[in-house]
Amino acid sequence: MLTIYSRSQLALRNGQDKSEVWIAYQGKIYDVTHSRLWRNGKHYEHWAGQDLTDELKEAPHTEYVFEKLKIVGLLKAANP
Ligand code: HEM
Repeated sequence: MLTIYSRSQLALRNGQDKSEVWIAYQGKIYDVTHSRLWRNGKHYEHWAGQDLTDELKEAPHTEYVFEKLKIVGLLKAANP
């Protein structure tokens, strides 16, 4: 059973406030704490601690990059 995290809990894992570095994609929260490509929560001009689903289209790669990452939880759905 995966834990459900709020956007503010995710925002704390931005590579600045807490040691963990997390990003959300399509409702899942992925751990990029140990990724050299997400050092201090920054990946090119993209920042950790938020839902990056809409930003993937700006990437030179597809969503295959998420395949080997650990899922730490689910992102609480935004209020409609
Ligand atoms: C200017 C935009 C971006 C550039 C130039 C870029 C570039 C890269 C490159 C070169 C890699 C390594 C790919 C590989 O291992 O084959 C990578 C990995 C990755 N990218 Fe991006 N990316 C961009 C945007 C994004 C966005 C918007 C997201 C999230 C939605 C994202 C998520 C990731 C993830 C999760 C990895 C895997 C990290 C790892 O396994 O250590 N990227 N990116």
